[in-house]
Amino acid sequence: MGMLTGVGRDAYTHRPVLVEAVLAGLRIRPAGRYVDATFGCGGHSARILEHLEDNGCLLALDRDPGAVQIAQERFRGDTRFAMAHACFSTLGDQITARGWQGRVDGILFDLGVSSPQLDDPSRGFSFTKTGPLDMRMDTSRGKTAAMWLAQAKEDEIIEVLRTFGEERYAPRIARAIVNARKQDPLINTATLASVVAQANPRWERDKHPATRAFQAIRIFINQELNELVAALPQALTALAPVGRLVVMSFHSLEDRIVKQFIRREARGESLPRDLPVMASTFHPRLREMGGVIRADTTEVSENPRARSAVLRIAERVEA
Ligand SMILES: C[S@@+](CC[C@H](N)C(=O)[O-])C[C@H]1O[C@@H](n2cnc3c(N)ncnc32)[C@H](O)[C@@H]1O
Repeated sequence: MGMLTGVGRDAYTHRPVLVEAVLAGLRIRPAGRYVDATFGCGGHSARILEHLEDNGCLLALDRDPGAVQIAQERFRGDTRFAMAHACFSTLGDQITARGWQGRVDGILFDLGVSSPQLDDPSRGFSFTKTGPLDMRMDTSRGKTAAMWLAQAKEDEIIEVLRTFGEERYAPRIARAIVNARKQDPLINTATLASVVAQANPRWERDKHPATRAFQAIRIFINQELNELVAALPQALTALAPVGRLVVMSFHSLEDRIVKQFIRREARGESLPRDLPVMASTFHPRLREMGGVIRADTTEVSENPRARSAVLRIAERVEA
């Protein structure tokens, strides 16, 4: 799919975000069992492997065939490492297949898109680079953004822009998209960016007027929030007692899901909060470890992607 040719070995020098905090959060034991649910270019995986001895192991997942290719090149011959081409919503199956249920010491989710996905115009994620309107993380299946935009009803486009982009001008932008596609199919990023920019009456400072629309369409095409909602309980089941769940989000929609999941599991709630029940009725399965961690100004200045990163850490309560 051309990703390595476009990105080459620069992919390996991609800087993982908040890496020291992630490693501390995972609290790596040299002989432990770990999962990197979002391999990307392997920046975090490489650092995890540095801390593992020969009997430690790391399973990585990514839905992008290009990431799988990077993993196969980068860690070829490393018997501690295994890579699966899979969505993290199938994490439970991956864990069961390896006999790891309830035995995993730490699981990392570094959500969103990777640098190679954003930087390669042929992937269609960026409004600053002209390319085909694809936006699929998994290029081996599913509908591209162009295919969806060609047939989506106006109301559906409004809903996507509102829900996943929190775009207040969703109706105007959706109307402009529907009008534009009557003239010519929307098949490249630059055309969509310009249609959205012209329809957007309020340009925010330091933000391209198509930022929210691109984010929304990308989240929808990849079903990113559904993936996260499905994966978190599977991660919890996979963890061993005192195993760590470490999740890095890049926008408030993701972080809200993670925060609510951790809080709910930390309270052990299966009943509504206001019922008069005894504390022994609750069965907390997670313990929240500290508050939110963000990158400091030095990291943000060296790596702009770190600017919006929000890291949360939780520990599996002993059964
Ligand atoms: C931010 S990057 C990870 C970067 C990585 N931590 C590194 O240091 O190189 C996110 C990666 O997660 C993958 N991804 C996103 N959602 C996924 C999902 N639902 N299932 C599997 N992989 C996913 C993307 O394809 C992308 O490669």
